[in-house]
Amino acid sequence: MAKDFSTMEDSNRSSNPSIHELSDPERRTLLRGSAAAAFLAPLAGAAGLGGCATAGGGAGGSPLLGFKSVPVSNADTVIVPEGYSVQVIAPWGDPVGLSGDNPAFKPDATNTAAQQEAQFGMHHDGIHYFAQNGSMSGLLVMNHEYVDDGLLHPDGNKTWNAEKVRKAQAAHGVSVCEVTNKAGRWEVVRPSPWARRITARTPIVFGGPAAGHPLLRTAADGAGRRVLGTLNNCASGITPWGTYLTCEENFIFYFKGPDQPDAHQRRWGLRKGDPVGYRWHEHDERFDASRHPNEPNRFGWVVEIDPFNPSQVPVKRTALGRAAHEGATVATTRDGRAVVYMGEDARFEYIYKFVSRDRIKPGGYPANAELLDHGTLYVARFDADGRGRWTPLVHGQGPLTAANGFADHGELLIKTRQASDLLGATKMDRPEWIAVGPQGWVYCTLTNNSSRGGKDMPAVDAANPRANNSMGHIIRWKEDGDHDGLSFQWNHFVLAGDPFNDRQEAKGNVKGDPFGCPDGLWTDARGVLWIQTDMSTSAMGKGELATLGNNQMLAADPATGDVRRFLVGPIGCEITGATGTPDGRTMFINIQHPGESPSERSDPAAPQRISDWPDKQPGGRPRSATVVIRRNDGGVIGT
Ligand code: FEO
Ligand code: CA
Ligand code: CA
Repeated sequence: MAKDFSTMEDSNRSSNPSIHELSDPERRTLLRGSAAAAFLAPLAGAAGLGGCATAGGGAGGSPLLGFKSVPVSNADTVIVPEGYSVQVIAPWGDPVGLSGDNPAFKPDATNTAAQQEAQFGMHHDGIHYFAQNGSMSGLLVMNHEYVDDGLLHPDGNKTWNAEKVRKAQAAHGVSVCEVTNKAGRWEVVRPSPWARRITARTPIVFGGPAAGHPLLRTAADGAGRRVLGTLNNCASGITPWGTYLTCEENFIFYFKGPDQPDAHQRRWGLRKGDPVGYRWHEHDERFDASRHPNEPNRFGWVVEIDPFNPSQVPVKRTALGRAAHEGATVATTRDGRAVVYMGEDARFEYIYKFVSRDRIKPGGYPANAELLDHGTLYVARFDADGRGRWTPLVHGQGPLTAANGFADHGELLIKTRQASDLLGATKMDRPEWIAVGPQGWVYCTLTNNSSRGGKDMPAVDAANPRANNSMGHIIRWKEDGDHDGLSFQWNHFVLAGDPFNDRQEAKGNVKGDPFGCPDGLWTDARGVLWIQTDMSTSAMGKGELATLGNNQMLAADPATGDVRRFLVGPIGCEITGATGTPDGRTMFINIQHPGESPSERSDPAAPQRISDWPDKQPGGRPRSATVVIRRNDGGVIGT
């Protein structure tokens, strides 16, 4: 998510000390030339970060990266290396392939809400290819994070009614479609028995310790066990038993707040009055939190979907905690338990992991339908000596008691932020995607945090070492023992930036092609770390981001630290979500919000003012879409 209103949440006023305050002042080394290199180099391991702050030319001798990097670009197209091709599929508004219900996209945005419910949503984000026939056909499952009402409706939001709210809700959520490879060209199969839309109105149940909790009960759901919809679905994950995890990120922006939000509401960013970006509460009163104060508690969860069963009721997994969840990345312990790594993308929020109580069983989702309902949630603390630890969020342990506002474990999970505050977790620079790389290292993008080190804001610390962190960084850790370890070592894989910048903190130490604002992150089967950027549209092309062009995707070699630019997207987009076929010869990524304007909404009178990607047809409008990347010779991507 890139718009300004998406990054304004800044709700952590907790007094838990940052590691800056706990650490030895001698170790509070910022990026100041060789002093920073001396501090970072011992932590950098094989990535070789030390002394590479002036890097920025072509990448060196990575054996993993076999393509010629592409230059930065401001063009309204997708640019890939020589020898590669790009194909657009599944744009917003195309039908997903429901049986007997395949309404064509209308470029003037006159599709109805009912038609949108049968079409791909807007603002594609997390994505995964579930193989059915190996690398020849399978299911593509993808998130639709949010909408731009300026493009979604013919006149934007100049007029407003229940139909428009319903259409906006239908353009959120998740799409499941079947795709097939026909001689290297991929097609959406229509109709397909697997095709499905899950929207902001789809019935979903709660699972885990908070299901049925009084704080989840509303007028429409007195039992607190059934909620309509999922929204702001940002990153995603998959499980070893074949399900898709979609994550609810900036949900609070959909709610109108009461005149005097209470402490709980303030901690979650609920503000007095109308929401920043949406007007759903005007025609769907559950989004008026002054009337339905528990409705926001029903969002901010990780939602499990079985793509192979179109009638499965999705489940919000409360055991994984509530957060502005960016993603959920699953690793497996050697004894077969699931570990879910999760970042919360808001300024000064936290990194989590969940360890399942039980082992994964053979038999797919039916055999593991409650696996994510039982286990322990932990929050991360990064210490200044390059070590870290996971602190459990368990009711009754330490300060997590009724006296401190947690009546039971369910309330603790609904108030995960407050519990983490009390545990002294490390306030991070907006944790986004997490990927498990080679040798057990776990990587997390910290996209940026312009408030870091600002007046009355948390200071820099070892894990978040730059004031006014306009560029972001990627941190990584390796657990002691196994993925369920309670302690870890950590270091910075890379500090993003551009040596062209004057400000030392914005130069970064990229060993290869400069970039800023890492967000999407994916490890392919060869161990390449794919980094996707989300420079906000209001900041892109200006100031310290001026030389970096449009948002892009880069490939990194985790062993050498080499970073090479692979793809640049069209104007106004972000690049997010990556997946591929098992043979490594097809990659699917998402182009989100091409043509997004720095203002809050696109101008419905001139929808193509910034971009006409991908259709390039007069009278249309830019559309988020999935792009298929192939090598022209059919080879493995990236080699
Ligand atoms: Fe939806 Fe944090 O990006
Ligand atoms: Ca982002
Ligand atoms: Ca994101």
